[in-house]
Amino acid sequence: MKLFDVYPLYDVTPAKAKDCFVWDEKGQKYLDLYGGHGVISVGHTHPDYVAKLKSQLDNIGFYSNAIQNPLQVELAKKLGELSSYPDYDLFLCNSGAEANENALKLASFYTKKSRVISFTNSFHGRTSAAVAVTDNEKINAPINKQQITTFLPLNDIDAVEKELHKGDVCAVIIEGIQGVGGLNEGTPEFFKYLEFLCGKYDVILILDEIQSGYGRTGKFFAHQFHNIKPDIITVAKGMGNGFPIGGVLISPKLKASFGLLGTTFGGNHLACVAAISVLEIIEKEKLVENAITIGNYFEEQIKTIPQVKNIKGKGLMTGIEFDFTVGELREKLIYEHHIFTGGAMNKNLLRILPPLTVTKEHIDIFIIALKKVLSS
Ligand SMILES: Cc1ncc(COP(=O)(O)O)c(C=O)c1O
Repeated sequence: MKLFDVYPLYDVTPAKAKDCFVWDEKGQKYLDLYGGHGVISVGHTHPDYVAKLKSQLDNIGFYSNAIQNPLQVELAKKLGELSSYPDYDLFLCNSGAEANENALKLASFYTKKSRVISFTNSFHGRTSAAVAVTDNEKINAPINKQQITTFLPLNDIDAVEKELHKGDVCAVIIEGIQGVGGLNEGTPEFFKYLEFLCGKYDVILILDEIQSGYGRTGKFFAHQFHNIKPDIITVAKGMGNGFPIGGVLISPKLKASFGLLGTTFGGNHLACVAAISVLEIIEKEKLVENAITIGNYFEEQIKTIPQVKNIKGKGLMTGIEFDFTVGELREKLIYEHHIFTGGAMNKNLLRILPPLTVTKEHIDIFIIALKKVLSS
């Protein structure tokens, strides 16, 4: 059997990783400024994280959601405290798409409606409802197109109100800061109005913080810059530092009932331990604060490069925009300077999503390399 060939691959084979570095099978060291799509939050193979997972594996790795699992309760409590949502409920699943899928289902159960408002350039995952609210025709199969979604431009609040007024919308879904789409974000006023309008029309506001959450932007959630409280928040990526886990944070206004949602693997013992360990490390090492400090330093340094046209994002969720496509630049960074970076739907944008443990020294290595490539 061979692999279903859906991923264009760089010719690098990581074999070992530590904090912000990755080594290939020949021992070549790479600086990881992409964290495997914004997944590595507390650094690769953090010793506390590794120890906790190993010890859990020696006890019990998995049992179904038909038994008591105190680790789920511990995770919900810790996440509630660190995210400032202690009164919300947590539903655990395995990925970002699944988190959004469940969030959209909850909104539809609650409102008994089905149309969704989403935004231009959004990305919410590849499962049925999640992909239907993703603004990319190419990854929506005919079966997904049965879900009716209206895509509106970001920051056009009148257009949102016009749609909500029709009375058939169950949810508005929006990323805290757009990831795959290229770091566009709603203005604080737009987010405030969205919250207000969703309240006015009793529509569920879903904040997709799968990429922008978990401290990456300098607050636990990016929407906390705007002083709003959505009905549902979805998380994944940095939540498990590479161990697959996703979560749905649910306002007390949405009530649970037995069987409403469910999953086999979601919230298993190993996933919970990974997620608890991530939160403990974020807290102990003050990684949210580090995202601000290093994010500011990064911005200062990038501004000194004349070829850079625009800097987007917040904290350690950043995009560097050029007036040329960045494919070749990324290849040179990886093959000549051994630095991982990311791309976006906006082909002129270099996406930087390092582990939250990144330091000024790591940023300096990147800036020197970037200047060399740009002047070659
Ligand atoms: C904002 C956002 N939502 C959802 C997803 C889907 O997450 P997953 O790939 O874990 O299903 C992603 C993945 O890139 C994302 O960036």
